[in-house]
Amino acid sequence: MSASSQKVALVTGAARGIGLAVAKHFLADGFGVALLDIEGDLLAKSVSELGRPDSTLALPCDVADANAVAAAFAEIERRFGRLDALVNNAGVAVFAPLMETSNADWSRVLAVNLTGPFLCAKAAVPLMRNRGGGAIVNITSISGLRASTLRSAYGTSKAGLAHLTKQLAVELAEFGIRVNGVAPGPVDTAMAKAVHSPAIRADYHDAIPLNRYGLEEELAEAVFFLCSDRASYVTGQVLAVDGGFDAAGIGLPTLRGARRNG
Ligand SMILES: NC(=O)c1ccc[n+]([C@@H]2O[C@H](COP(=O)([O-])OP(=O)(O)OC[C@H]3O[C@@H](n4cnc5c(N)ncnc54)[C@H](O)[C@@H]3O)[C@@H](O)[C@H]2O)c1
Repeated sequence: MSASSQKVALVTGAARGIGLAVAKHFLADGFGVALLDIEGDLLAKSVSELGRPDSTLALPCDVADANAVAAAFAEIERRFGRLDALVNNAGVAVFAPLMETSNADWSRVLAVNLTGPFLCAKAAVPLMRNRGGGAIVNITSISGLRASTLRSAYGTSKAGLAHLTKQLAVELAEFGIRVNGVAPGPVDTAMAKAVHSPAIRADYHDAIPLNRYGLEEELAEAVFFLCSDRASYVTGQVLAVDGGFDAAGIGLPTLRGARRNG
């Protein structure tokens, strides 16, 4: 496949977790894939394990650093000459009560989770517009759809990203660029392992109608669908991929437990 006929995706936070699963999905579907991550060594290892130097590009980069993002996009343009899909997946979680959330933590969470997608979307528009359009998917969170404890910074950053998704969808439609979000429920990644204790894990099982964590591949499927032509009339939406967590609202785990056990 020539460089110009192969579609190209950029996935941020692609060294592991949901981002790596999304990158693999694009690769399996014939895309060229730029994998961007702040963890340079882990990224190099993950990209080398993919074993596809013909179709991959590793970009060590902090999405919150405007100059680094500009340089990364210049590299994509040099290597692939086009961009069809951008997945803003890089994110950091700081779960702490308000009074224990430092100003530095607040600023960093907002910078990575909200400013990062803003910078990447701005850099993506010229590349996508040149070829008549593209698709952007922002990875938000159920924590951005409804409030919970310990998430003033994280939840607010994701709620902001959900609104940025709608804002960009409206503004970029004229360039043929669709913009959607995917809001994961709990997914068993390194991030979840770091912040979910055994008690929290048990609570999630109780609160989620499908009674389990999501798989990275299940998130990748939804992201890929929204980037594909099958979603050609979908823009400005945030799709919860969460086992029914958002739909259940207050939940009443006791009643669900009774139903399961009865
Ligand atoms: N795992 C979950 O339960 C869950 C739930 C809801 C939302 N999410 C969201 O899904 C996305 C992926 O999460 P994950 O669970 O795979 O996390 P993860 O921590 O396993 O992976 C995140 C990746 O992003 C990279 N990253 C962090 N800061 C970066 C920066 N400034 N620039 C570039 N890369 C950076 C990390 O190095 C890492 O490789 C995040 O946006 C997260 O908020 C995850």
